[in-house]
Amino acid sequence: MPPGQRRSLEGILESSFTGIYLRHASRTLSEVEIARAAFLGGEPVGLSMLKMLEGNAGYVYYIAVSAAHRRRGIGSVLLRDAVALFTSRGATEVYASVGEHNEESNALFRGHGFTKTNYLGVSRKYGVLKAMAMYRAMFVVPGEVLLVLDGPAITSFETEPSEKQP
Ligand SMILES: CC(C)(COP(=O)(O)OP(=O)(O)OC[C@H]1O[C@@H](n2cnc3c(N)ncnc32)[C@H](O)[C@@H]1OP(=O)(O)O)[C@@H](O)C(=O)NCCC(=O)NCCS
Repeated sequence: MPPGQRRSLEGILESSFTGIYLRHASRTLSEVEIARAAFLGGEPVGLSMLKMLEGNAGYVYYIAVSAAHRRRGIGSVLLRDAVALFTSRGATEVYASVGEHNEESNALFRGHGFTKTNYLGVSRKYGVLKAMAMYRAMFVVPGEVLLVLDGPAITSFETEPSEKQP
């Protein structure tokens, strides 16, 4: 979705985040390279904010589904769509950072094969300088864990719609 049309997605953020996270999510929505939206009956009900990082890595800044439409598979559709988009652009791994106590987002990402990593894990792959630049771009803050989908998990990633999709 082009930046000029993204204001219609603000309501999803307002039902998903508060405080500094809401402010950061709103600012990211207006600036991020790729914003994708999920619609139900013409109404936007979910969004993802995505960016290609250095190397062959994709980054999921945010996935959010409006509170009234959760647990219906929309977050999973958005996540599969994000991974498919990244791999079509050459990504061999996809990162996401989530609040360590955010049960639903941890369950969403881990349920799709993401595993925990950290700065050391990224610097082993990319070297210290590149890893620092990637970390800055990912904006991982204290209290968040970094997750990655890589290796066989990404090559065998299921992008076809599941039966649970709306
Ligand atoms: C995380 C979020 C995007 C999930 O969206 P969703 O449309 O409800 O997700 P789905 O229906 O596709 O659920 C997929 C899986 O996630 C897990 N999950 C989702 N909500 C959960 C909850 N409240 N408690 C535990 N697990 C949950 C489950 O494993 C679920 O699979 P299941 O329904 O087969 O058990 C949504 O809860 C949300 O917008 N939260 C607020 C914003 C946020 O924190 N985003 C993540 C950080 S960027």
